[in-house]
Amino acid sequence: MANEILYFELNTGVKIPSVGLGTWQSAPGLVGVGQAVKAAIKNGYRHIDCARFYGNEKEIGLVLKELFDDGVVKREELFITSKLWCTDNSPEDAPLALDKTLEELQLEYVDLYLIHWPVRIKKGSGEFKPENLVATDVSNTWKAMEALHDSGKTRAIGVSNFSVKKLGHLLEIARIPPAVDQVECHPFWQQAKLHEFCKSKGVHLSGYSPLASPGWLKNEFLHHPVLVATAEKLGKTTAQVALRWGLQTGHSVLPKSSNESRIKENFDVLNWSIPDHLLANFSGIEQASYSYSNPTKLVRGSEFVHETLSEYKTLEQLWDGEI
Ligand code: A2P
Repeated sequence: MANEILYFELNTGVKIPSVGLGTWQSAPGLVGVGQAVKAAIKNGYRHIDCARFYGNEKEIGLVLKELFDDGVVKREELFITSKLWCTDNSPEDAPLALDKTLEELQLEYVDLYLIHWPVRIKKGSGEFKPENLVATDVSNTWKAMEALHDSGKTRAIGVSNFSVKKLGHLLEIARIPPAVDQVECHPFWQQAKLHEFCKSKGVHLSGYSPLASPGWLKNEFLHHPVLVATAEKLGKTTAQVALRWGLQTGHSVLPKSSNESRIKENFDVLNWSIPDHLLANFSGIEQASYSYSNPTKLVRGSEFVHETLSEYKTLEQLWDGEI
């Protein structure tokens, strides 16, 4: 079907399913994230976005095993992402962290492994305290990521929360170029500059919080007039048009939901499209000051910024002005 956007192709030749289930803030415990993963896979999702930091990989692993054992899906049909947390960025710790993720997910490999943030935190520290921040050494961390790719424990490697500048620097020194930059991306934080850069370098952009976190912001963004008008014209929900905007803009989307009907709703975005004249309205959406009570960019990383103790003295430095 002409409108279908099932996959995007990574620079490794591997296909990343265009819609993945986000699992951040999905409660640990089988009732939360486990049921969400099960519902998603039974409803056709093939991409699950995990991270060690989310603290729920063990539950996800239990459910994956059950689904494999029951013949619901095969491992090779799934695309599983995980992320290296900031406390494990040293070349010695990175392989141990991936091993732990694989053990918890009960998998032999992940499909994509990402450096979670361009930030380093003292090993073993669980708290976000400025005194626990240490200077990053992205080039050495990346060498460790390349070794993990060589080992076959991950089929692709990439980064998350990297600006154009940081991604550009990594591309200059990488033996294996990053396949993905996973960043916050939604109609209210469109990342046009990063998008263009990624496209020009063959790096796939993957969008987290593609609905602009309605739970957190009480659906404020999903009531935006452009989304409402588009949804009404197409007979879709505002969440669906937000996700479909992402796919038509060229990035994969990772909506998180623990509710089966919304999990289904968020997957029903693959085989219809927003016509060009309606899509054009999205580029007029205010990026900086739409929300009265909240800044448009939701995930700011303020905990990684400190005027003396962090290498990032300001948010501007962390995001290299892209904030
Ligand atoms: P729930 O888990 O109850 O469905 P994001 O991925 O942008 O961070 O958004 C996640 C939030 O969006 C969760 O609070 C989730 O709540 C909510 N959500 C997910 N899908 C939808 C939807 N289709 N409509 C409204 N809210 C949604």
